[in-house]
Amino acid sequence: MKTKLITFFNIKGGIYKTSMSIITAYELAKDKNKNILLWDLDLQENLTQYVYKVNHEDKTTIDIVDGISAEDVIVKSPNENYPNIDIIPADIGLAMLDEKISLQPAREKVLARWYMKNIDVLEKYDYIICDLSPSYNLTAKNILYLADSIIVPIMDKNISSLRGATLFKELWSRDKYYLEKEDNDIKATVLVGYEKQRTQVSDLFDQYLQKFDDLKSIMIDTFIRRSTFVEKSLLSKLSVSDYLSKNNQTHFSKDEIEKMVLELKEKDVL
Ligand SMILES: Nc1ncnc2c1ncn2[C@@H]1O[C@H](COP(=O)(O)OP(=O)(O)OP(=O)(O)O)[C@@H](O)[C@H]1O
Ligand SMILES: [Mg+2]
Repeated sequence: MKTKLITFFNIKGGIYKTSMSIITAYELAKDKNKNILLWDLDLQENLTQYVYKVNHEDKTTIDIVDGISAEDVIVKSPNENYPNIDIIPADIGLAMLDEKISLQPAREKVLARWYMKNIDVLEKYDYIICDLSPSYNLTAKNILYLADSIIVPIMDKNISSLRGATLFKELWSRDKYYLEKEDNDIKATVLVGYEKQRTQVSDLFDQYLQKFDDLKSIMIDTFIRRSTFVEKSLLSKLSVSDYLSKNNQTHFSKDEIEKMVLELKEKDVL
């Protein structure tokens, strides 16, 4: 199987993009024959902190733009619980990344050029999961240009996450043409933070969603509910299933994550 480069992306912040990237990586890593690379491109470094450590002196994507090799930027097995996951870490220095990329020729393709140069190392991974800031900037465009699958999380009852998704779709539909990536449509949307409890906003959210058939028609059947177990397991550097079995507990989160990854595989998104 060819390497698949995936990103969970939305212009709206705080809607589980990073968590979805990690959850998916941990679930995929259950298959010990699969190698996964997590690429943190967000200066907030949430993914790096969850999977690796809070403070580090390692290289980041800034050094990639300076021409460092994949071998020198990748940290192997940052989380000893999942040795088949590697990471390209982030730190606050990425605040300069967009500016640095913008000074390069053919600036939307800077990371793609690095990718091609380092293809021997990068194609050893089955999956490369890229975590971006909630911003449609040059860094995002570089990754979207490279992506095989773009997945857009939409948060239940959160109308700005729907607006973020539609705005992103609009901007990407415009840009993918001049980047000659016409076929690279958003592959799936996934409803996150779902709660059974209905509120006034629920109706408004549902009405709004009905209006955006293009987003609704690609929404996967599995949704990810709000659950403190997800947060607790991430903080313990464990997958939800490992966290639960360690604590002799059962919970719906485990099933829905397994179902989500299965469905995304069936739909050829993963
Ligand atoms: N299923 C879940 N249930 C409850 N809380 C969750 C769930 N998944 C993630 N969270 C929590 O929600 C918060 C925001 O998640 P996360 O950092 O993944 O969002 P994000 O979209 O990446 O944010 P940003 O736009 O800032 O990068 C985190 O504290 C995380 O632990
Ligand atoms: Mg994030």
